Amino acid sequence: MIEILSQEFRNRFREKDPQFFFCPGRVNLIGEHIDYNGGQVMPCAISKGTYLAISKNTDKEIRLSSLEFPEMAELQIQSSYSKAGKQWFNYPLGIIDHLLKSGYDISGMDLLFTGDLPVGAGLSSSASIEVLTIFALNELFSYGISKTDMALASKKVENDFIGVSCGIMDQFAVAMGKLGNAVLLDCDSMKYEYIPFKTKEYLLVVINTNKQRTLSDSKYNERFAECGAALRLLKEKLAVEKLCDISSQVFEENKDLIEDEILVKRAGHVISENERVLKASEVLKTGDLNAFGKLMFESHRSLKDLYEVSGRELDTIVEFAGNYEDCIGARMTGAGFGGCAIALVKKDAVTDFIEKLRIFYKTRIGYEPSAFISGAEDGVRMLRS
Ligand code: GLA
Repeated sequence: MIEILSQEFRNRFREKDPQFFFCPGRVNLIGEHIDYNGGQVMPCAISKGTYLAISKNTDKEIRLSSLEFPEMAELQIQSSYSKAGKQWFNYPLGIIDHLLKSGYDISGMDLLFTGDLPVGAGLSSSASIEVLTIFALNELFSYGISKTDMALASKKVENDFIGVSCGIMDQFAVAMGKLGNAVLLDCDSMKYEYIPFKTKEYLLVVINTNKQRTLSDSKYNERFAECGAALRLLKEKLAVEKLCDISSQVFEENKDLIEDEILVKRAGHVISENERVLKASEVLKTGDLNAFGKLMFESHRSLKDLYEVSGRELDTIVEFAGNYEDCIGARMTGAGFGGCAIALVKKDAVTDFIEKLRIFYKTRIGYEPSAFISGAEDGVRMLRS
C-alpha cells in the first residue's frame, strides 16, 4: 500500500519525501446506539483503514487527492471553508476548517489518501479519514493536540460540517484503539479503560451485508430524536440527564410515563444495552468468551426488536451464525440498516463458516456478503517518514 502511495505521490506532486500515516476503521463489539445517550460502548479498531501520504509545499496551496476518487481539491489558504456537495474531500476539508477556526496555523501542503475500508459499510470510514487528517496535521505542524481532543474535534466536524448527528464512539475508537484490546468508553464522562479482548481459539469475523444503504442517515437521526423524546417524558419524574442514567429496574417502574409504545421500545433497548456492556466487560475480564458471545446475540435481538435498526440482511447473517455450532456470538455492528455484522467463530471452522454463510445469504438475499478477519488493533499512527 505504502509503495503505491509513495509512487503516486511523486507522480502527482513531484515531492519525494512525504510522511505516511494510517488510521484504522472500527467495529463495535457491544453497546450500540447508546453513545449519544450517555452510555458505555465497547468498540475496537480493526486491521483495515485509511492511509495518507502528506508533505508541506511551498506554493501556498492545499491539495487533497485520493487514489480512489478522481475529484481533487486545490485550495488557496483561507480562514474557513464550506462543505463541497457530497465530495469525499469534505472530511479532510472539515478538519482543516475546524483547525483554522480554532486558531491553528496551516501552510500549503499536499495530501494523498487511499484505503482498504469499504466506504459506507458501517466500519467508520469517515471517522477514519477525519482522525487520520487531524493526527497527520498535528505531527506536521506540531500543534500538541491530544488524541482524545482529536476524536472530539473529528466528531464536531462530522456533526457540524458534514451534518450527521453521530456520537463519539467511532472517532474515539479509531484514535485510541490498542492492539489486543477493546476500548470501554463512558461517552458521558469520556473516561475509558482497555479491556483485553482475548479471542483464544476463536476469530472475529467481520461480515459485510454489501447492502446499499440509502435511508441510514435519516433513520439514524430519527432514532436520535426518539431517544430525546423518551428522555423528556421520563424526566418529568426522574432526576436524570441521559437515558443511560436510568437502570432497567427504575425504567420498568416508570415506563408508564411514556405512552407511545415505540418510544418505550427505543428507551428499553438503550437502557438494557448499556447494562449489557457492563456485563460484557466483566465477562471479558474473566476470559469467559462464551458468556460474551451470548451477550452479543442478546444485543442483536434488542437492536432488531426494540430499536429496529437491523434489517433482513443483518438478521439473515445473525440467524445463520446462531445455528452454526462453532459460532458462539454474533450481532450487527455500527448504525445498522445494512453495513456489517460481526461473529466469533472457532478458528478451524472459519473457512467453512464463511462458505456456508455465503450460500445461505445468497439464497435468501440474492447477492453475496463479503467477509474478513480482524483482531483488535492499534489506533491512528505514523507509519514512517
Ligand atoms: C454510528 C455512529 C456512532 C454510533 C453508532 C451506533 O456508527 O457514528 O456514533 O452511534 O452508529 O452505535
